[in-house]
Amino acid sequence: MALCGKVSAINLQGEIECVSLTNKKILLGIGGGIAAYKSADLVRRLKERGAEVRVVMSQSAQEFITPLTLQALSGHPVASDLLDPAAEAAMGHIELARWADLFIIAPATANIIARINAGMADELLTTCALATSAPIALCPAMNQQMYINAATQANLSSLSQRGLHLWGPASGSQACGEVGPGRMLEPLQIAEAATAFFAPPLLAGEHIMITAGPTREAIDPVRYISNHSSGKMGYALAQAAHAMGASVTLISGPTALASPVGVTRINVEGADDMLSAVMADIAQHSIFIGCAAVADYKVADIAPQKMKKSSENMTLALVRNPDILASVAALANKPYCVGFAAETQDVEHYAKGKLAAKKLDMIAANDVSVPGLGFNADSNALHVFWQDGQHALPATNKLTLAQQLLTLIANQKHA
Ligand code: C5P
Repeated sequence: MALCGKVSAINLQGEIECVSLTNKKILLGIGGGIAAYKSADLVRRLKERGAEVRVVMSQSAQEFITPLTLQALSGHPVASDLLDPAAEAAMGHIELARWADLFIIAPATANIIARINAGMADELLTTCALATSAPIALCPAMNQQMYINAATQANLSSLSQRGLHLWGPASGSQACGEVGPGRMLEPLQIAEAATAFFAPPLLAGEHIMITAGPTREAIDPVRYISNHSSGKMGYALAQAAHAMGASVTLISGPTALASPVGVTRINVEGADDMLSAVMADIAQHSIFIGCAAVADYKVADIAPQKMKKSSENMTLALVRNPDILASVAALANKPYCVGFAAETQDVEHYAKGKLAAKKLDMIAANDVSVPGLGFNADSNALHVFWQDGQHALPATNKLTLAQQLLTLIANQKHA
């Protein structure tokens, strides 16, 4: 079984591995700061990415959030007492430290940072930090003055030199009413940093542009034609590509989704805007993935004022939209081009037709007639075709699928 980040991501059976946080064992250390309440959400975020999570809390963390909450969310008893015979009998501190693939400490207070730097083993959390050989990621969270204090800065710099990872802090308004650096990263950002930590850097050095979501074709100033695309697949691709080391530009039609961390997002509305945004920057990119559900037609004459209902029937004249993907694939200096084909029948036939007609390097086809998969769903299944090969990616969540598709792209681009 291949290990993430260490070896090629396709094994001899052709299965693609190294995805998401599946099978990763994450020990979460919670320090005693007001940001501790966010750690409950962090457990959920890590688990929804497939990680197994165990929690160790400092004594003061339990003043902010109860072990019972963390036990319910993680599905495991919470460890906090170094000298508790029952806890030691279940999973002792050394076992816990050995168990982890990654030890995230969030929030890492100024006090915990100082104690870890000093090598103290004065409670279970600090003892685990000393006893583990797993990588440790600190997510600092404290008052901005405490953060910029020379003692804290010296501790962080010494820990960083010793190979501990520093995730954050962010800057902004603080619970104490002050503004400055010292806010713990949001749980989603920490979960994404963990995903990136384990993702194989197969796309390091690549500049990937991804179109996502629907386009919105104006009829008049208040109405438009669009489709049900949620943008989830394109956003998952952007998030996964960033985690795999690429620099990512996401050209997005209107969606309700938050921007993936670390990704440059450009918002557009209609297909014409999307084409302009793509063409303005495509020369800087080595891979283009057309994941947007671009409307096939736009309104021939957009009414400058709101149209009135003057007659029983109404006919709108429509004209074909530009094919953005085909336009990119036709460029003299084209990037590696990947398209999507959402079909309801004869998927292979239509997908291969589009691969040839649009002069693509790869096409990912999905059968959108399967209930629960594809359009607007959280899961999908893809059948991927290229000039002289194909690979089926069975149904799974879109982030995992995105990492699998990107692994295929990385392999085929250099084949
Ligand atoms: O709509 P169609 O099935 O042709 O879409 C196939 C691929 O082409 C998708 O990757 C889609 O993002 C892209 N496309 C595009 N511009 C269009 C239509 C489709 O980039 N006008």
